[in-house]
Amino acid sequence: MKNLIIALFSICCLQAAEIRVDLSQAGKKVSPNLFGIFIEEINHAGDGGLYAELIRNGSFAEAPTLDAWAAVRPSAANVNLFFDSSTPLNSVKARSLRIEINSPNGERAGVSNEGYWGIAAKQGESYQFSMWARGAEGFDGPLTVTLEGKDGAVYGQAQITGLKTAWSRFSGSFQAGATDPAARLTITANRGGTFWLNLVSLRPGKDIFRADLLQMLKDLKPGFVRFPGGTYVQGNDRATAWRWKNTIGDLESRPGHQNAPWNYWSTDSMGFHEYLLLCERLGAVPMYVAYAGMTWTPNTKSPFGVLENHKIPVSDFPMDQMGPIVQEALDAIDYANGPVTSTWGALRAKAGHPAPFGLKYIEIGNEDGFNPLYADRYMLFYSAIKARYPDVQIIANERRGRTARELPMDFVDEHIYARPMMAIEMAKRLDGRDRNGPKAVLAEYAVQGSAGFGNMRAALAEAVMLSGLERNSDVMPLASYAPLLAHVKAINWRPDLIYFDGVSSYGTPSYYVQKLFADTRLDSVVPVEVKADEMKVRTDGAVTAEGFNAKAEFQDGRGIGTGDNFTYTVRARKTAGDGGIVIRFAQDGSGAYLAWFIGVRHRASTLHVWGGGGMLDVPAHQLESSFGGAIGRQVNGALDTGRWYDVKIQVEGRRVRCFLDGKEIHNAEVPETLGPSVYGLAGRTAGGEVVLRLVNVSPLKQSVSIDLAGGSADRYSAVSTHLTSKNLDDENSLAEPKRIAPIERQLPSVGSKLQYELEGNSFTVLKLTPERK
Ligand code: AHR
Repeated sequence: MKNLIIALFSICCLQAAEIRVDLSQAGKKVSPNLFGIFIEEINHAGDGGLYAELIRNGSFAEAPTLDAWAAVRPSAANVNLFFDSSTPLNSVKARSLRIEINSPNGERAGVSNEGYWGIAAKQGESYQFSMWARGAEGFDGPLTVTLEGKDGAVYGQAQITGLKTAWSRFSGSFQAGATDPAARLTITANRGGTFWLNLVSLRPGKDIFRADLLQMLKDLKPGFVRFPGGTYVQGNDRATAWRWKNTIGDLESRPGHQNAPWNYWSTDSMGFHEYLLLCERLGAVPMYVAYAGMTWTPNTKSPFGVLENHKIPVSDFPMDQMGPIVQEALDAIDYANGPVTSTWGALRAKAGHPAPFGLKYIEIGNEDGFNPLYADRYMLFYSAIKARYPDVQIIANERRGRTARELPMDFVDEHIYARPMMAIEMAKRLDGRDRNGPKAVLAEYAVQGSAGFGNMRAALAEAVMLSGLERNSDVMPLASYAPLLAHVKAINWRPDLIYFDGVSSYGTPSYYVQKLFADTRLDSVVPVEVKADEMKVRTDGAVTAEGFNAKAEFQDGRGIGTGDNFTYTVRARKTAGDGGIVIRFAQDGSGAYLAWFIGVRHRASTLHVWGGGGMLDVPAHQLESSFGGAIGRQVNGALDTGRWYDVKIQVEGRRVRCFLDGKEIHNAEVPETLGPSVYGLAGRTAGGEVVLRLVNVSPLKQSVSIDLAGGSADRYSAVSTHLTSKNLDDENSLAEPKRIAPIERQLPSVGSKLQYELEGNSFTVLKLTPERK
């Protein structure tokens, strides 16, 4: 609710733009695999996400505490739970759970597992369970395995008998008789006795991948899949780096490891083989990021720009010990591509996949180019891989110890987590990029500043950026968004492309931007001229104040002065909620504004979640323009609930100063313009359709005159698909998964000159199919 308004202006509501597309030429080829995906074990993307296991901590390795496990003792029975390593299942599954039940009258008792913050039971779904178990002398069961509600309602059940004193594997299945998003699995007995459990598993259906998430990835039609990290590959030390050989074979033989950068246990069920299978299922080329013997450096202030601060962690392998690490990368290629007669190819065949996976790209390390040791180690990999697998393409990390041209490479990997305007600038810079340097992979990108958990602002800036990539795929032929997946209960990083809980999932507006690009994949791009109004940034206009993700009240709001010379003061109090306050000013009614966010989380591009394993975004104050996001730096600070604050905004021409309780928080020069209000790209699909990608970053509708010059067709059948939202801060959510989603419309047949109205804040794809004469 807007609590206060000062001086409302009248506005115009339609802008005009002109677009000329030159169809007289064949155009410039677009890289066929330009848009891929990057999957990292972050935010429980794999464990608890894409990998369809429902039991968390099934091997009791995860935490010093029981974590997802709890005792079940609904009646007079007593149960004690202990970690026990005295009779391990095997050398890597050393710790099991000992369950001691005292049940004088045969009451039920045992353990339960809540899965990844609730097991989703779905009526009619078949569930497969398995577990390793053993009983103490004299205890052979039976055990009852039940999928049940918190209140004990039984949805599915099976019995296990014949426990021995040695470990045996038990499995079974049942159908769920009801739907419950927060079910649990229980393993109980109706008698006293002691038994042990390990590697407890419950899966819906037969697939190792979760169906809805897999479908969302398929819908992106990725050209390649980069895996498995990310910082996840580097780890915090040697013990927590991702070593692929520990992630293959039976689950019983996979030790799992602490995912130190993201602060949770990785079961490694989603291992090297599963990542390769995923690529195959998606019809995408595998891009493997190999551990380079170097470690992410959490002891430095920030993972960015740390060259001079870089303390060489003791975990980095010295040069004379790099031999086995390089061999590990060679063996990975052998596992993926080698003949079944090779050592590693034979293991792949044993795992059920005799055909090679066709690993095409290998990246040496992730963001290790920050490390001054990188170049020498990189060369070890490069020489060994090129000697043995000349067809495998090698990707070097950016910001290497040497310049790009001194190191041989097929690609350099660049990462960009940007503010909206930076993303747009980046695309423009590509137009002027040195065509003689190495080709680049944009293996991690996202608009992060003022992006919340993935809002419309970020999606629009990315749409402009991705158009720039299509235009320049000769120098940057591969790109993937990061991060891809996030469990809503375990967010390490924001924004992400796809969010989910145990039951459902949704794509952010950025996801739909990617999908629209994928649905109209271009074979070539042709020249486009766009004439559109600039996004002028005003400093005069109406002021409104409201709570942002919080309730707030305001008193004594007043403005003194006129035009772009005024001082606005108000007393403000947050009354409830986790958020803060936003004062929007310089509003002309078009939807554009300047805004001071006070004590609001999740706005800045600076991450406060790094390595925290949780949502540690701090509340901060930030001055923003509506589309461009942050102006100047954010200043950390929260608002106390119930306390009155004196808020003051002073505008003198383009200079804006913001004060809280008399203290100056921001003092910034506001830019005159945010650049053009409309961006356009055009090209042809392999099938000869003409595609226009139009981004209207202004909140006003735009009437666009489009001239399809020099084309061979007189008329086209036309389909438009657009993504729009009134407010740039709008996001999708589990509750409203399609609040912002593509809207498709069949248009009447059009000629080579047409008029089209773009919604404000919109990304539109026009697909024009030449009509037969
Ligand atoms: O995508 C999240 C992280 O960002 C990746 O792990 C790392 O490579 C990058 O800095």
